This record gives sequence, C-alpha cells and structure tokens, in this order.
Amino acid sequence: MATSGKVIRCRAAVAWAAGHPLSIEEVEVAPPKAGEVRIKIVATGICHTDEHVLKGCFPNVEFPVILGHEGAGIVESVGEGVTSVKPGDKVIPLCLPQCGECSFCLNPESNYCLKCQGKQIHHFLWVSTFAEYTVVPEYAVAKIDPAAPLDKICLLGCGFSTGYGAAVNTAKVKPGSTCAIFGLGGVGLSVVMGCKAAGASRIIAVDINKDKFAKAKELGATDCINPRDCQKPIQEVLTEMTGQGVDYSFEAIGLKETMIAALASCNMSTGICVMIGVPNSASEISLDPMLLLTGRAWKGSTLGGWKTRDCMPKLVSSYLEKEFNSDLLITHTLPFAKVNEGFELLRAGKSIRSVLLF
Ligand code: APR
Ligand code: ZN
Ligand code: ZN
Repeated sequence: MATSGKVIRCRAAVAWAAGHPLSIEEVEVAPPKAGEVRIKIVATGICHTDEHVLKGCFPNVEFPVILGHEGAGIVESVGEGVTSVKPGDKVIPLCLPQCGECSFCLNPESNYCLKCQGKQIHHFLWVSTFAEYTVVPEYAVAKIDPAAPLDKICLLGCGFSTGYGAAVNTAKVKPGSTCAIFGLGGVGLSVVMGCKAAGASRIIAVDINKDKFAKAKELGATDCINPRDCQKPIQEVLTEMTGQGVDYSFEAIGLKETMIAALASCNMSTGICVMIGVPNSASEISLDPMLLLTGRAWKGSTLGGWKTRDCMPKLVSSYLEKEFNSDLLITHTLPFAKVNEGFELLRAGKSIRSVLLF
C-alpha cells in the first residue's frame, strides 16, 4: 500500500485524564517494526472495561491513553518477519494475545498468555482500537474469513466471546441445567446466549435495570429478576426458586456484592460460579469459607477461556454459519466522531453495544 513504511497521520479518540470526555485528535502511527502489524480499524465496539478505565478504576493504566479493545480491521502493512497475516487480510486485534510459547499458551487448559504481564502499556490491552490505525504485535492478531462483516464481528473481539465462552468453556454448562446471570450488558447477555446454546433448561437473568429484560428473554432467558423488587437478598430468592440453588452462576458486572451474591446463588455441593466482571483495582472481598468448603467452585474467566489466535477465526466461522447471532447485541451504530455519545448511552443503560464506524 502507498502508506507502507511511512508514518500515518490519522484520527484517534484520546483519553487525556480520568473523568474527562475523549477528545478526537490527530495522532501519528509509526510503521510496524519487526514482528508487528499495522491495522486499519474499520469498526469497534464500546465495552464497559473502557468505561472502567475512563472512570480511573485502574491506576496502573497511565493517561493519556487510546482506549478501545473490541475492534476489527484490515492489515495495512506488516513488519519484518511477520508471516501469519499480509496486507489486505481481515483481522481481529486480540486484547488477550496468544504468543504460543509461554507455559500458559502451551497448556491446553489455559488461555491466559504471559505476554500480558510486565509490559509497558503504551497501548490499552494491546490493541487501542479507538484509532483509525493501530500497531500490534503479530501474536495479538488473528486472521479471519474475508467474508466476515467487520461492523458486526468486532464484538467477537471482547464482549461476545467473553460472555459466551464463560458459559461454554469455563463453566462447561451441561444440558438440562439451571443458570443465573448477574448483569445483562453485552457480556452478560452473551452468557445467556452461551447457556442457551449449551442446552440449559432454566436461565435466570438478574439486573437492576428492567429495560434489559426484553432482550434477555429474546436471547434465551426463562426468568428475569430485579433484585430491587425482592424482599429478600437475591441469593435467597434464587435458592428458593431452584430448590438448592442454580448449577451455574455468572457475575458480569464487576461489583464485590454481586460476586458474593452470585457465589452464594449456586448450589453448595456442585455449583460453579464464574467471575467475569472486572472489579475496581482496589477491591478486596471477604467471604465465609463455608461457601466453598461444601463443594462449590469459584472460577474466573478471561476472554471466555478462548485461546485467542486459535479460536477467533473459528468463532468468526461459527458466526458466518449462523451458530449464534451476536448482531442482536448491537443496539447503536455511530460514526467514530460520536464516541462520547456511545459512552453516554452505556452509562445511561440505554445501549447494549454501540459500534463505532470509521
Ligand atoms: N445488580 C444487578 N445488575 C447490575 C448491578 C447490580 N448491583 N449494577 C449494574 N448492573 C447491571 C447494569 O444495569 C448493566 O445492565 O450490569 C450491567 C452491566 O452491563 P454493561 O454496563 O453493558 O457492561 P458490559 O460491557 O456487559 O461489561 C460487564 O464485564 O468485561 C467486564 O469490565 C466489564 O465489568 C464489566 C462487565
Ligand atoms: Zn471488553
Ligand atoms: Zn503466551
């Protein structure tokens, strides 16, 4: 391409400080160095994790920063030694990379790549998709089917895969089981879809915003509950509804109270509770050890347990084969310049996912 080897000047949404709106600026994007890939971002979703950072919940993320981690785009140019992608390829930049060499990448049970640790964050979660162009390491890019609509499958870069995978990979939901999902944003609703796909017979959706219930039902929830309408703590309500508690519970909010409530909602012997929501970095939980002693399991899940470079292309193929319909999560599509409006919709609880188009 004509831009290959040159610095590209383009628009990006810069977060200058916590608590301030993003500002669209012209930035310079350097050509990819050896082992790097420069991507033209075509579409990006707005995820609540971006909002957590903007609120200043993660002191280890330094400002100014370019946020965004749920994108899709086209390879513009590649650095020396890059073999897995070439200019023109459609790709998903991976907010959880897969180097293929570290001990976790080599372990079939793990999807957490150690490349995530101990690196300077000049980017956000490797990818910084709130920019027209971004440069990422080759191990943080997955080539996908050229037939994939980038304005839709960008959600597979975080929210959809995170929620759906938490159900099918981390919890391994069994047919006929009962599930409870706390938080019905893009992530929690993807858990609902995963539980349904896994054959769960009862899917109880929990949120304090009742406007989320219609979509939850459309995606497979059998019951919807607002804890604020209940006379008792939500864990007691769920235990009564199901006899002994659900088989699987999921927390897709990021609050200590709902993490404990989700844990206590699954049955004391074989229940599995999966934590997905990202807590404020200063959070600490104290809990009654009896909750775990009787057999319950408490697990965490990052990006749905998918080994990202291996699985992202397969997830895109499953999307194209209509195995799931993640498009139902997209409530708004906005031009990139309206990124702050997208955040306002998220804060007001009016959107599930807003997709920004460049
Ligand atoms: N009880 C029940 N539901 C709640 C509560 C609560 N106390 N507080 C908030 N919620 C609901 C909101 O009403 C909203 O519907 O949780 C949902 C969160 O959805 P989004 O804001 O759209 O967030 P999402 O992008 O789905 O991310 C959820 O997963 O990846 C992480 O960092 C992300 O922690 C975040 C979580
Ligand atoms: Zn995310
Ligand atoms: Zn690795």
